[in-house]
Amino acid sequence: MKSPIPRSLLSIGSLLAVASGMAGPALLPMPSKMLASNGVFVLLDSKTAVVAPIELDDQAKILAADLRAATGLPMPVVRYAAAGRAIRLVLDPKFTTAGPQGGYRLIVRGEGVEIAALTATGLFYGGRTLLQLLPRAAEQGGDIAIPELRIEDQPRFAWRGLMLDCSRTFQSNDYLKKTIDRLAFYKMNVLHLHLTDDQGWRMEIKKHPVLTQKGARFSPKYNEPTSHQGFYTRAVLKELVKYAALRGVTIVPEIEMPGHSLGVLVCRPDLSCTGKIPDDIFPFFKGPSITPDILCAGNDDTFRLMEEVLDEVIEIFPSQFIHIGGDEAPKTRWQACPKCQARIKAEGLKNEHELQSYFMRRIEKHIASKGRRMIGWSEIMDGGLAPNAAVMDWIGGAAEATQAGHDVVMSPTSHCYFDYPYAAINAERAYAFDPVDRLSPEQAHHVLGLQANFWSHIDREPACVDRQLFPRLLSLAERGWSPSVCRDWNEFKLRLDAQLPQLAKMGIFYYREPQ
Ligand code: ACM
Ligand code: ZN
Repeated sequence: MKSPIPRSLLSIGSLLAVASGMAGPALLPMPSKMLASNGVFVLLDSKTAVVAPIELDDQAKILAADLRAATGLPMPVVRYAAAGRAIRLVLDPKFTTAGPQGGYRLIVRGEGVEIAALTATGLFYGGRTLLQLLPRAAEQGGDIAIPELRIEDQPRFAWRGLMLDCSRTFQSNDYLKKTIDRLAFYKMNVLHLHLTDDQGWRMEIKKHPVLTQKGARFSPKYNEPTSHQGFYTRAVLKELVKYAALRGVTIVPEIEMPGHSLGVLVCRPDLSCTGKIPDDIFPFFKGPSITPDILCAGNDDTFRLMEEVLDEVIEIFPSQFIHIGGDEAPKTRWQACPKCQARIKAEGLKNEHELQSYFMRRIEKHIASKGRRMIGWSEIMDGGLAPNAAVMDWIGGAAEATQAGHDVVMSPTSHCYFDYPYAAINAERAYAFDPVDRLSPEQAHHVLGLQANFWSHIDREPACVDRQLFPRLLSLAERGWSPSVCRDWNEFKLRLDAQLPQLAKMGIFYYREPQ
């Protein structure tokens, strides 16, 4: 068997050299530290087992199933290794790292493999790295050998996300689960679900069933495929949250307000400024892309409904952050609405921008009262940012927000909008993005991480979504996880190309970028 790794300690620099010669494992994202000792191999065989204590049973079963699928070996889960080689999972309270959670240590020795971490998520990531170390031979029935090595790895940023727009096009539960698997394989950890917009309300709300009775489907006159419509029941969402959590992924739910709210306004026209709302939601290209009708900020019933909705959202989704949208809310209706104008007067606000800020602050207070944090798009800074709110920067605001001590997630249209064509953002351009470029070290401290956004108005079928996301999502996976020195596109490109068969194996209809 070839010796894929030099025997000496590998620094990041030499690791890059090894990777660029493609003699070593083409890990993606690149780990922070990797050492190879003496080039001995571990041969996995029919006696190899995953060994883990009972409290790690879920993690052990996931890893065993994935190893089984990749190697064809039986890969039982056992409590003790009686005979044969062991792939041991160990929770180690001493394995702490500075920075975001998810670090792990992976040691491959002649006698077996040990993955140690402080958390189950760290163990999961160690398992993902192990899967990437399997040789191609595993698929071809040859020896399944892994180089002896030691990896110590940890994420650079806490938020490594993807937003899927489930409103413009309903995304099936099956596709969401696949997406979770794919994100997790490349150590991404946030799936942000855009659950409401003008084209549909997608989450069952017990207290307000009308939202999905009327807001989740288009009129038959539009002839829209049924697969593009519908909603998620509470049971489906609860199960999805659990599925994601076992794979280190947090689902961040987004309920849009005050704009992009036709999904709720068709159900509750009384919450609009005019009371005159279309009878039904309409598909994206069958009407204006932004409607002037937004939630009335002068009506206390608006806040009652949104707060009751958020209470159910908080009950289902354990994420620290709750996303409330806040983008692209035209102010024409508020300007002409007696109730909104009365609110401006009563609250001593200067204008409709401050009314938007009033709206956001009121909602932020409610979310904070439940022990959660609010996050919203750039425009939540309009008229003054609510205390403790975090900003998802798509059209600016990160510099001021971080200066004022607010946390931000970077998802600029320039590099992170994956509904845009590859002609605008290819994998190389995405790889050039660094979320802390142009920020001082103090400001950078408030950057939680980065996120790719996928809006589903143009590409609507799963294969088309796949193509928009892959392979360029891997560029952001590495920029979010690996040390900042990993920035050499030519080196990364070799590892990216080496992942393409893996993408195919995962059933991803990825885009083939011209060479
Ligand atoms: C956005 O793209 N409107 C956040
Ligand atoms: Zn109003």
